[in-house]
Amino acid sequence: TTRAPGFPDGFLWGGATAANQVEGGFDEGGKGPSIQDVMARGLSGPPTIAPTPDNLKHVASDFYHRYVEDIALFAEMGFTVYRFSIAWSRIFPRGDEEQPNEEGLAFYDRVLDELEKHGIEPLVTISHYETPLHLAQTYDGWISRELIGFYERYARVLFERYGNRVRYWLTFNEINSLLHAPLMSGGILTPRERLTDQDLYQAMHHELVASAAATRIAREVTPQAEIGCMILAMPTYPLSPSPDDALAVMTADHTNLVFGDVHTRGRYPGYFLRTLRERGIELDITDEDRDILTNTVDFVSFSYYMSVCETADADKRIVGAGNIMGGVHNPTLEASEWGWQIDPVGLRIALNQFWDRWQKPLFVVENGIGARDELVETNGVLTVEDDYRISYLNDHLVQVGEAVADGVEVMGYTAWGCIDIVSASTAQMSKRYGLIYVDRNDDGTGTLDRYRKKSFGWYADVIRTNGASL
Ligand code: BG6
Repeated sequence: TTRAPGFPDGFLWGGATAANQVEGGFDEGGKGPSIQDVMARGLSGPPTIAPTPDNLKHVASDFYHRYVEDIALFAEMGFTVYRFSIAWSRIFPRGDEEQPNEEGLAFYDRVLDELEKHGIEPLVTISHYETPLHLAQTYDGWISRELIGFYERYARVLFERYGNRVRYWLTFNEINSLLHAPLMSGGILTPRERLTDQDLYQAMHHELVASAAATRIAREVTPQAEIGCMILAMPTYPLSPSPDDALAVMTADHTNLVFGDVHTRGRYPGYFLRTLRERGIELDITDEDRDILTNTVDFVSFSYYMSVCETADADKRIVGAGNIMGGVHNPTLEASEWGWQIDPVGLRIALNQFWDRWQKPLFVVENGIGARDELVETNGVLTVEDDYRISYLNDHLVQVGEAVADGVEVMGYTAWGCIDIVSASTAQMSKRYGLIYVDRNDDGTGTLDRYRKKSFGWYADVIRTNGASL
């Protein structure tokens, strides 16, 4: 078997969460509602007209009140980085105010204090599936050009407030998911069936401009900052060796790669312009937009959970059960209970593809397996014997090591949902990713107490040995 020669010194090890999935405190500290308040079922049910009370995310894992304890647990595992998002509607409760909400800003000051205390580097996602609800209801989210200005104001406030303490920033979580989940990703309330390609692609353009605008503002306000884009990585394999299937793969890949291409090259690639032409879409792109887009990122970050297949043969296009982003089922792979196909080698392939294509440092900012866990007593201590999670994470990290050996520049790795949180797609507590168990059930019951899973100790070893224990 191949053994990776080792992770580079200073490789950042840690975990990742998003505000709406971990914090709770949904109406505290002057916070306004976000689109998550009308998505109590995540993607697995239609959004409601108004916020409903039956929303697990209202309390989530209660990080809002327990961040001191949680960050201490991250430190115990040896985290050197923690990726979290700032809830936009804590800072701008409606999204279009002139002035930010001081109480919201102060909360993240306190989070940063704790991280600093433990020497953990923050990695901040500016927008993670939590557009202020008012911006969705009044502007239909990113379809409206006005969102660019609101986002710029928000990003500027964050850079001014935290710029001296936060070096790494991500502009939009999984920006390419907009094309598949317009409400969650883009705050667009128009239902998918009624949403035109024209509006959807215009929303994409607005987000790309806003992302580059944030980079431009960061350069001015906090020049030492490093700005990354964040892409949902989904390597695609041909279902058969036919050239037509290979071409179908290329086309499918393009729908994701275009986001990285724009972020790293500062302009739209030809294949994308062709797609627009063929679909009869005429984007409103101003000269100023073109200029803003040239503010390219310092690094590329991405999430990786699974790979998919593609085929040109309509009869064989069987979309995998868990493939929210589309993509054909791969008969050679096992899947998680939620149908997400497990493919560690795909992570090495994605890292190589992105590195070869963009030549920017890469950061794996999400990876993990959603699974049901059972709290058991072992030697008088409550824990979870999550060997399945250990093997998933271990196998994927071995592939990160392989990519490093391939010469890929990898900045770090943050395990998704390092502490149990509410799932984004299904809004379940029982779809757990954590190394730390949170006692909370799908019906909202539970003490919210924290327990170290077996994977907690395993990950601490990995970090302590800088990957040598894998
Ligand atoms: C990514 C998102 O798509 O996948 C996260 O950035 C999400 O917010 C994660 O939680 C896992 O998905 P899920 O649906 O299992 O929570």
